[in-house]
Amino acid sequence: MSWGLENRLSRIIRPEDNRTVMLAVDHGYFLGPTSGLECMSESIVPLAPYADTLMLTRGMLRAEIPSTVNTPIVLRVSGANSVLDDDLSNETIITDIDEVIRLNAAGMALSIFVGSPHQHQTIANLAKLIDLGERYGIPVIAVTAVGKDMVRDARYLALATRIAAEMGAHIVKTYYVEDDFERITGTCPVPVVMAGGKKLPERDALEMTYSAISRGAAGVDMGRNIFQSDSPLGMIKAVNAVVHGGASVDEAYTVYMDEKPKGRKKSAARGKKKIAADDSRKI
Ligand code: R5P
Repeated sequence: MSWGLENRLSRIIRPEDNRTVMLAVDHGYFLGPTSGLECMSESIVPLAPYADTLMLTRGMLRAEIPSTVNTPIVLRVSGANSVLDDDLSNETIITDIDEVIRLNAAGMALSIFVGSPHQHQTIANLAKLIDLGERYGIPVIAVTAVGKDMVRDARYLALATRIAAEMGAHIVKTYYVEDDFERITGTCPVPVVMAGGKKLPERDALEMTYSAISRGAAGVDMGRNIFQSDSPLGMIKAVNAVVHGGASVDEAYTVYMDEKPKGRKKSAARGKKKIAADDSRKI
């Protein structure tokens, strides 16, 4: 591995504990304006100091993230499809390697869709990207995307994760499964990071993080369970406490609760004013 590639890798996965908290905010690349990511300069920039990396597209990086932000960037470089297509697996490489270097990215992320109609194309995209990454010293994170009809179990995810590692991926991002997660981490020779998946109650998301770390994951590449929380700052601090701080679920939940904005009761006066304002709109 070249010095440059090792150096960039050490900016993604902290060398002191071999763990990482990656903040995934790339959802718009096929979903459009995802809830919580409508204005990333407001919702995501304040979280950046608590993330080991930000994972996003070049468009959002340039438009929403000030160039003075020091958090290492992992660029999402596969796409060219949308949620309106039934087959999301028809992806290509969407960002040129020159642009990745110009943007000073620490890594590149690309999805593979094992078992989907375009599995060959996406795995070939990965192999090509890894060749480019090796040439210029930029690590590649393979994302094991799950097609609509795929069963999300350890057998399938171990298959997809291992194929990504066999192609030469430096990190593999996959989903957590309760049943036999060790089969995934135990058969993948490179670090596995856990995607968060759909929004869960905060305590459940912290339980999942704790279990994934205990069962061999090197960290998380988490999105919705952080930025769609009622306290994104509380959640990213709590996830950090688990991943880097060795916190228990109870301890991490306390970190989240301590940061969560305390609710205010509506006063009777405020309630009356609201009714008056609503009435006025009917006139
Ligand atoms: C999906 O392919 C995107 O790369 C997201 O980054 C990924 O799903 C992780 O985000 P979340 O934790 O919201 O699932």
